[in-house]
Amino acid sequence: MSALPPRIVPPENLARAAAEWMARSLQTSLAMNRRVSLALSGGGTPGPAYRELSRLTLPWERVDLYFVDERFVPPDHPDSNYRMVEETLVAPLRLSPSQVFRMEGERGDREVAAREYEAKLPPVLNVVLLGMGEDGHTASLFPGHPALEEQSRRVLSVVGPKPPPWRMTLTMPTLLSASAVLMLVAGAGKRETVHRALAGDPALPAARVTNAQWMLDSAAAGR
Ligand code: 6PG
Repeated sequence: MSALPPRIVPPENLARAAAEWMARSLQTSLAMNRRVSLALSGGGTPGPAYRELSRLTLPWERVDLYFVDERFVPPDHPDSNYRMVEETLVAPLRLSPSQVFRMEGERGDREVAAREYEAKLPPVLNVVLLGMGEDGHTASLFPGHPALEEQSRRVLSVVGPKPPPWRMTLTMPTLLSASAVLMLVAGAGKRETVHRALAGDPALPAARVTNAQWMLDSAAAGR
């Protein structure tokens, strides 16, 4: 369970609050590092937050983008996390391709693709944005899946229960070593899982990210 109390915001303010949290965390890291890394999740919740973030003033030329997870689909596929980040952040900010470290979902050899991504990752990720599914998964680390127990690899290729099943994901040690982690969760459908996770239920992958700041909309928080 996270040591920090969850932040609860009205649904209409969630995207802006998450963007401001990411911008502040990037600024903190930028004060100490020449370049900083921001690792992003997919799913439905974060897109509006990425759009808000793209409107905030930062020395973007010093920020490198990484991915928390990716489906093994081509980068222009509707299920591609890269595609969502491209549309909401990379294109609006006109980021250079050299700043965007994509997980290559179109690669046939998934194991090689995961090993290559591991080689691209910086030793420590500065800022990480996570989401949580209704089953408590985060990144593409699912409840009861052996990948959840991985201790040495930083990136894995996994077959998950959620379609599309073939995915690449950062592992728990990678998430736990990051400097600043936001767990962004919205919607009444996740209320019960949120409460279990905040109570520290170790069966829920999201609950194991003990360094995360949780940010909930009031529907997910049940208030
Ligand atoms: C993904 C994720 C995943 C996501 C959760 C929550 O690519 O699917 O990174 O872990 O954060 O499934 O997704 P929603 O925000 O869509 O509920």
